[in-house]
Amino acid sequence: MSSRKIIGAVFIIGAFAGGLYLGSSQNAVPVITNSASGASYGGGYDKSADKDVQQSGKTSAVAERTVVGKTHIVNDGDTIMAAVQAAKPGDTIQVMPGTYHETVYIDKDDIRIIGVIKEGKRATLDGKGILNDAFLYSGNNFVVENFLITKYKGNGVMGQAGNNFEIRNNIIVDTGVYGIFPQLGKNGIVEYNVISGIEDADIYVGMSDNIHVAHNDVFDNVAGIEIENSRHAIVENNNVYNNTGGILAFITPGLPIKTTYDVIIRNNFIYNNNHKNFGAPGSMVGSIPAGTGILIMASDDVIVENNIITGNKTVGILITDHENAPGVTIDPESDPSPDGIKLLNNLMHNNGYDTIDDIKALMLTEFKQGSPDIVRVGSSRDSCIINRHRYVTVGVNSWQECEFTNTDSIDTYLLDEPVPPRIIDPSERGKVVYNGVCAGCHTYTGRMIGPPIQIIQALYMDNPQGIADYIASPIKKRADYPEMPPQNYLDEKTRLATAKYLLERTK
Ligand code: HEC
Repeated sequence: MSSRKIIGAVFIIGAFAGGLYLGSSQNAVPVITNSASGASYGGGYDKSADKDVQQSGKTSAVAERTVVGKTHIVNDGDTIMAAVQAAKPGDTIQVMPGTYHETVYIDKDDIRIIGVIKEGKRATLDGKGILNDAFLYSGNNFVVENFLITKYKGNGVMGQAGNNFEIRNNIIVDTGVYGIFPQLGKNGIVEYNVISGIEDADIYVGMSDNIHVAHNDVFDNVAGIEIENSRHAIVENNNVYNNTGGILAFITPGLPIKTTYDVIIRNNFIYNNNHKNFGAPGSMVGSIPAGTGILIMASDDVIVENNIITGNKTVGILITDHENAPGVTIDPESDPSPDGIKLLNNLMHNNGYDTIDDIKALMLTEFKQGSPDIVRVGSSRDSCIINRHRYVTVGVNSWQECEFTNTDSIDTYLLDEPVPPRIIDPSERGKVVYNGVCAGCHTYTGRMIGPPIQIIQALYMDNPQGIADYIASPIKKRADYPEMPPQNYLDEKTRLATAKYLLERTK
């Protein structure tokens, strides 16, 4: 996540007031479009062009097992980690109800960790406010289901470069920074999880592809669901309420992957996301104005369809580019404008009833009154909307009518076959860990969760060993930053390779 202090702050009004045609729609007969008929969006994803995809038929993210491995049973009092160490690819670990205080690292492929729910009692991972992460996986074909996860400082479930994953039916409460955070993964499902009380994002899909986020219940967090620097994602049938911001699709500049596009946000309930912002000061979500239903920043081809968006006090849908998001360092390799945004039918009601001054000022430029459902600020090319007359809008008068009215022809962006694991050459280790782990909290020039890499380079110039040692057991150094979580699950060689790679960075 990033240090961009966007969204709450001042929008540059002139930047888009130029493109208006004032008042001319006042008496025009609205174009009423029926979304039950008409053309369907064809999607921005061409499977046949993806080299990772072998053609033919399955739908789940994880490979069907041809050989069924062993089942390891973990009883209350044992550790899950011991079972993971004993397990071979293809094995299943069943965890009986009980309370487990540990961090579980899974770097093997084909491991399934299934909590056994007995008469409502779950296997519970309790970080006691001391441990950083509950599950940390880098293996491929990983499944984690049915846990209750609470009181960790960092993440409930975090993935680093694991492909084909299923994170399902977990309850994650009162747990640190991210509830579920797959990073740099391809082909994954996050569904039927209940998540609340998270300081940054509940479900944070970062630098990933072909992701399905569905049927989750997310509330009382800062950000509900975030799709960041990711492509081909569907977010559907989620219940998203009482967060600061509901569903976010955006680009954080400065990360190694530069784009977010082809995101469908449909059939979600997104209501009363008015929670006071309790995010870390300086983090991107820390500056989202409370009361934002959907935020689209710099992402392309985001389709918003059939959501019920009500009671979000600042705005129902906010669309912005990077330029109008003060505090964002523009990344020359990321296109800052949200292009090809497609707003199809949504039920919007009672949004923007207590909006911020910047939005009020924008409304004045269009002589708009009432409470804003949809606000667009900054540039946005080739975007479209249907039935715009239904909403109080700012900045979409010049948008086209969409050429299609629904996304019915796209069921999923999951791949027909699980993708092969990433093969990591030993010489690439440092790079992979840096991009997969460190880049989640550090960028080259800006403040993120951790200090800028430039600063770290100045401190450790010719001393990669010093970094390797620090990250194994970090000590708190800066009063205005949180503690850095220990990276001691990485072996000595990998830590050193990562440190060297970090010191060589020039951007
Ligand atoms: C979850 C967020 C997070 C991740 C992931 C992370 N860091 Fe950090 N890092 C921090 C924070 C926060 C600090 C500041 C800690 C402080 O000053 O007390 C920090 C500080 C540092 C420092 C400064 C040490 C000093 O002496 O001032 C180094 C070096 C560092 N991180 C390296 C890394 C490397 C290498 C990785 C990847 C393996 C990494 N970090 C991953 C959050 C993170």
